[in-house]
Amino acid sequence: MISAEGEIRIHRLESNDDCSGFRSGKIDLDCFFQRYAGQNQFRHHIGTTYVAIQGDCITGFVTVSSGEMMAEELPKPLRGRLPAYPLPILRVARLAVDERFQGHGIGRLLLRAMLELALEMRDRVGCTGVVVDAKPDAVDFYSGLGFKVIELVSGALGDRPEPIAMFLSIRQIVAARVG
Ligand SMILES: CC(C)(COP(=O)(O)OP(=O)(O)OC[C@H]1O[C@@H](n2cnc3c(N)ncnc32)[C@H](O)[C@@H]1OP(=O)(O)O)[C@@H](O)C(=O)NCCC(=O)NCCS
Repeated sequence: MISAEGEIRIHRLESNDDCSGFRSGKIDLDCFFQRYAGQNQFRHHIGTTYVAIQGDCITGFVTVSSGEMMAEELPKPLRGRLPAYPLPILRVARLAVDERFQGHGIGRLLLRAMLELALEMRDRVGCTGVVVDAKPDAVDFYSGLGFKVIELVSGALGDRPEPIAMFLSIRQIVAARVG
């Protein structure tokens, strides 16, 4: 994937990418990126990380995996006539931009790339929307892209209590793309 800007490239994490200098200001995210993103992707296959690169520098990353949720976990207006069994989703597990590059549209660019990936999933294997586990101070960032807070049934997306689950439906992604 390549951004419209041309100078920021987004690609799947590669084993020779140097993650060591990345600092987002959130130690847990930096630690995940430097220690676990690679092994989760290359060894365990439990999530895939995409990096934004400017020149030789990794300016941001986003980690996604496939997941599922129940229609009853969605607010009524979003539920529509979805069936009452687990629904496929794309889960944004982690997203961070290096402190030096925050506020320049890279977070949004990475997230938009993942919305495109969700559309690809829809066509290839089925996908009803995107779920993010938002840190409390990033909720407004996701709201700005149309995500809505949802109440997940405990354990549906892991057992970390702290993040706030937010959802964006495939229908909304398509509408935003067209509009
Ligand atoms: C949250 C984060 C990923 C946003 O990335 P970014 O590249 O700095 O954000 P962008 O420049 O793409 O911002 C896009 C829009 O969101 C807004 N925004 C960015 N961060 C925000 C925040 N924390 N709260 C509210 N709005 C935010 C911007 O002002 C911008 O709005 P505008 O287009 O109206 O000007 C980044 O600041 C970050 O890595 N923070 C530390 C780690 C973190 O909290 N990650 C989220 C984990 S769930």
